Order: sequence, then structure tokens, then C-alpha cells
Amino acid sequence: MIDFKKEIAEILQMQISEFGIEEIYSMIEIPPNSDMGDFAFPCFKLAKVFRKAPNQIAKDIVDSIGAKELFEKITIAGAYINFIINKEIFARTVIEEVIKKGDMFGSSEIGGGKTVIVEFSSTNIAKPFHIGHIRSTAIGSALNNIYKFIGYNTVAINHLGDYGTQFGKQIVAIKAWGDKSIIESNPIPELLKLYIKFHEEAEKDPKLEDEAREWFKKLEENDKEATELWQWIKDVSLMEFNRVYDMLGIKFDSYAGESFYSDKMPGVLEEMREKELLVKSQGAEIVDLEPHGMPTALITKKDGSTLYITRDIAAAIYRKNHYDFYKNIYVVGSQQNLHFKQWMKIIELMGYEWGKDCIHIPFGMISLEEGTMSTRKGRVVFLEDVLKKAVEKTKEIISNKNPNLEDKEKVAKEVGIGAIVFQELSNNRIKDYVFSWDRTLNFDGESGPYVQYTHARASSLIRKAGLDYLDNINFKLLSEKEAMELIRILNKFPDVVIDSARKYEPSVVTRYVIDLAQAFNKFYHDHPILVDDVELQRARLALVHTVKQTIKNGLKLIGVAAPERM
Ligand code: ARG
Repeated sequence: MIDFKKEIAEILQMQISEFGIEEIYSMIEIPPNSDMGDFAFPCFKLAKVFRKAPNQIAKDIVDSIGAKELFEKITIAGAYINFIINKEIFARTVIEEVIKKGDMFGSSEIGGGKTVIVEFSSTNIAKPFHIGHIRSTAIGSALNNIYKFIGYNTVAINHLGDYGTQFGKQIVAIKAWGDKSIIESNPIPELLKLYIKFHEEAEKDPKLEDEAREWFKKLEENDKEATELWQWIKDVSLMEFNRVYDMLGIKFDSYAGESFYSDKMPGVLEEMREKELLVKSQGAEIVDLEPHGMPTALITKKDGSTLYITRDIAAAIYRKNHYDFYKNIYVVGSQQNLHFKQWMKIIELMGYEWGKDCIHIPFGMISLEEGTMSTRKGRVVFLEDVLKKAVEKTKEIISNKNPNLEDKEKVAKEVGIGAIVFQELSNNRIKDYVFSWDRTLNFDGESGPYVQYTHARASSLIRKAGLDYLDNINFKLLSEKEAMELIRILNKFPDVVIDSARKYEPSVVTRYVIDLAQAFNKFYHDHPILVDDVELQRARLALVHTVKQTIKNGLKLIGVAAPERM
């Protein structure tokens, strides 16, 4: 692929030997409006060295460069040198690259095979998988795909919330009021009912709290009955979670959750004591973080049991030893900002210089119109219900608009679920938002279905044409303004992917596929594809092909399918 910017830097370097090629390269700009040129070079900085007015410098440089094959024109506008690239060469370079790379177009090798851990979803077992979980799940999975695509070896971890005193309560409740077969028929809602009942009963009879502590202690000591019950809670919960992950097409490399670290905790605590970080406080152990401007962190309780933060410290150390990560990324809501700052500080205080490679990627909260979600109050929207409703609604739309569509069920799933995921990844992740059924099930405008429909339209054009178009393309025929705009956007895709990885922001890719779909629809509106002139038709089909491929690649990164027909 020709790197036009690099070529320009080389051409300019020959004229400006006082500046290094890197510096020249970094000064080259892309004008906001392509009418002004494809690339521009401002000459202001050269004035000091050349002791001439910038306008004059621009003129002198352009005169001595002369004509260049890669550029249609090199002009001046004030102190700027504008480069207008040779459209035919540009079209050929971009289109041939997309065709050659296919599903890998946009990928790169900048990761060099280094290991990046992406921890996401990390749901709590025996609790609902609710709409709030879509955030970590969709953002994390997209980041995992994106990092893999740019050459990192990624490890997707679901750090399940499967440990802690609440499981003592859950065990007491199951033993007292539970019926296994009822729970198995509808695990999470039934476990939730029992959990709520526990809290109601414990208000009347505080002894229950002691019993719960007792059962959690037994669990920590590997008591057979406690472990079996806990394992069963975990199994039935995972059955439900996996149904949702399957719907979303998400896979994890590891489900090592909080319980996984229970036997690794004593060693870590010992290490912290040796490093003199732990301070006794009323029978508990704490790390004093006041000098670092943070509240004190409680590491072990009076009865010796560990906490959420203790398990995160153990997990980070384990991951470094086990995976030797380059980056260890946590996609977790911004309510936990302090928690992450605290334990990352502790890792640093333990003397681990790799602490800086642990990165918390926060996102804003989802609330309901009735207020924040509360599982105890039963104020919760199940993610599975949202996905199912989206699929139902899509089925209705298909029955009205395209009743003879093949594979209706499959397409309805791809479009319905795709719409939800796409919407989730459309906005900057840090924004809070209020969940609304109406907005969630509104597929108009800049939505996933719009982009998917553009992909299906491109597929249909290619099918209808039934022509070979991949060789001997006359790229001169793609010089219209709308075609060039489209090619410019296609050319940006590899950089867009890298940019989204650097910012940990999948919405950069989502916005990109919207822009691409819009540019394509504009082109298609102004320039029919299936024209009589076969040479022209073939050139336009090649462009359609590259748009279809790039939309597909972009959607795949954010976890959205690209149906051929819809
Ligand atoms: N299970 C936790 C929750 O639902 C999130 C876990 C986040 N990850 C972590 N390593 N602390 O709030």
C-alpha cells in the first residue's frame, strides 16, 4: 500500500534539508475539506531557518519540486503547500489492498504478539445478568477483538464474582427454604427470591447471620457439603450466563473468578506482612493509604476472612506470573474507580513495577427510569429479556417488509441482537445513561440495522450483477467526488482500529462504520452501479466489494454480524 504521507515527507525532505524526515512527516496535515487538497504542509515554521516569508518559501518549494507521478497537482494557498493525489493511483492502491487482505483488512502487527489481558463482564453468580452488565460485556469483548486484530495475543477473562460472605447466606437460605428442582427450572430468579427472603428473615432472627458466617467459613475450609452447594449454585448460574454469552457470540479464555484465588491468598498476605504493608487494627488487617490521599484499605477481617480487594491483589500477581502480560486491562464501571486506585497503589507499594501495566477502563452507569437498579428490591431489567425482545421486534419487521426472506430466524437474531450491541457501543463509554425500552428498541437512524442493511444492499448488488470484477479494473473511472470520498474513508480503516485501541474506545469503530455506510449510500444514490457500460459497472462493483468487506470487518470487531440478506 502506498503511504502518501510518507512519500510527501520524502519529497519535501529533498527541499528542506534543515529539517529531519520525522519532523516533516509530523507537520503534514490532512485538510478538513478535501477540496483544499488531500494533504497540506504549512511553511510557517520554516521562516526562521530560510529567513523568508512563509508564502515565498511555499512558492519556492513547489517550483523546485516540479511534477510528480503520485500527485495530480501540487499547489500553494498562502503559506500552505497542498498536495492533490493522483486519483487513479489512490483508488488502485486502496481497493487492491482491501481485496488482497479480505477479512484481515484493517489488521496490523503493531502488537508484536505481546500478551494483553482483557477482563470483562465479571458477573456475580446467583445474581441477575441485567442490562447494566451489557456495558462491561460489550465494551470488553470489542476491546478484546480489537487488540487481537492489531497483533496482540489476547486473553479474555471473566473474573466471576463467586466468593464472599453472601454465599454463606445463600447456603442457609437454600437449606431452609429452597427446593432444588424449582431452582433448577429458573435458577437466578429463584436464588434471588431466596436471597431476599434471607434478609427479611434475618431482620427478625439475627441468629441467621451467624449461621451464614459459619457456612462461609465452612466453605473457606473446603467443607464437603458447603462446597457442593456452592458449586451447584455456580453451575446453575453459569448455565444462565452462558445462554446470554452465546446469544452475544462471546467467548472467554478463562473463567477464573474470585474463588480461584482462595488458596493463593495466604501466600499474598504473608508477602504483604513481610513487606510491612499490613497494619493490625482491632483484629483486622489494613493498608494505610492516607499518605497517598486515599481511604485505608481493609485487607482481612477480624475473623481472618479476605475481601474483594484482597482477591484483586492476588489475581493481579497471579496473572503477571502466569501470563506475563504486557497490559492487564479491567473493563469495570466507574463506581469502582476508588477500589482500582487503591489496589493498584498497593501493588505499587509491594514493589511491583508492572503495576503501571494494570489499567482500569471505566464506563458510566445505566439506571432505570424508576431509579438505580436494585436486585434486592426487584428493580431490574434482565439482559436476556432485552435481547429476546429485540429479536421479536426484528421478526415482526421482517414479516412485514421481507416475508420471503430465507433464514428469517437467523437474520432476526443477528439484526435484533446486533442492534442492541451496536447502540451500546455507539457512544463514548464514559457517559451515564437511563435505560428506556423505547429507545433501545428504536432501530431508526444511525443504528446497527442501518449499517447491516447497507452491507446487505452491497451484497445484493454484487449478486445481481453476477459479473467478475476483481481483475483488470479501470480505476480511472472512480474519480468522482463521492467515489473519492468513499475511498478516503476506506483508506482510514487501519488507523481507526489502532486509534480505538489506544483510546480503549470501541465507539471509534462504531462511528466509523456509520460514516462509511453513509458515504456509500451517498455514492450509490448519485451513481448507479448496475449500468450498461460494463467497464464502468465493474469498477463500481470493485468499490462496492471493498465497502462491503470493510463494513463486515468493522462490525465483526464490535461483535455485530453482517448478514448477506435482510
Ligand atoms: N463482580 C464485580 C461486580 O459485579 C465486578 C468485578 C470486576 N473485576 C475485578 N477484577 N474487580 O461488581
